[in-house]
Amino acid sequence: MEEKQDIINNYDKYAKKRQDALLKNLKPSHRFVERPMMRNMLPNLEGKKILLIGCGTGEETMLLNSFGAYSKNIVGIDISRESIKLAKNTYPSVEFKVMDMNNLEFEDESFDFVYSSLAVHYTANPEKVYKEVYRVLKKDGLFLFSLAHPLRWASQKVFIDGEECRVIGCSRNNDKCRVIGKYHSFDKQTHSFFAWQNDGEILSFYVGAPSMHFKLLRKVGFNVLDFTESKCIDEAKDIDLNYYIKNSEIPQFMAFLTRK
Ligand SMILES: C[S@@+](CC[C@H](N)C(=O)[O-])C[C@H]1O[C@@H](n2cnc3c(N)ncnc32)[C@H](O)[C@@H]1O
Repeated sequence: MEEKQDIINNYDKYAKKRQDALLKNLKPSHRFVERPMMRNMLPNLEGKKILLIGCGTGEETMLLNSFGAYSKNIVGIDISRESIKLAKNTYPSVEFKVMDMNNLEFEDESFDFVYSSLAVHYTANPEKVYKEVYRVLKKDGLFLFSLAHPLRWASQKVFIDGEECRVIGCSRNNDKCRVIGKYHSFDKQTHSFFAWQNDGEILSFYVGAPSMHFKLLRKVGFNVLDFTESKCIDEAKDIDLNYYIKNSEIPQFMAFLTRK
């Protein structure tokens, strides 16, 4: 309960700042990594009834529109009241509701397509969310969603030659093996964003291995059609070369496309 309130407080507090950054295309992780990954996996959405999970301030409706989705057929939900308020004001032809993804308040088989960007990793119980999504999807409906990748977000800070690095690995000392970072543990990870600014955000989310999510999705009945590990696009090279080098080698995010 406390954890849920922390998420709400955080996303309420930064809703306006996040929306401004998204609308000005200032978030490199969205512009160069996550959105391009999702764009490559999105199907044609003409005439489809669509649910957005953890839609934030609603900017992803523009992405879905560009794949044929009609705004009047989209319903976006988010747990942050402030984000939903901004979404309603900015995209008045889309329906937005304050709702928890762990309990979707929709009838069975209501949607053809469920979309979620970087939100499902906020639940401690992804199986429950997958079951809920399965329930509200029509037969043959599709679910496309992205998550934090453990290689990036379950790594641990270490110093190598005096330089701060993020690592997943282990020492080779068999007597006293040291494991750095977590790949297979499904665990809550806390990260600070824009820490150099006065008003940096601290966010905690759950990170697990792709194989764990793959198995849970199959367990609740989904067919997994596609899986992608993100790779920074070339456009980033001219804008931030270091960002490009890092994120074209290490996946920041991963995405699953599944069918009911
Ligand atoms: C990283 S933001 C992503 C927002 C948007 N999808 C985007 O990519 O711009 C994660 C969103 O998930 C929402 N969220 C977290 N836990 C949630 C829950 N239990 N139910 C619904 N939304 C939730 C947050 O409020 C936040 O808006």
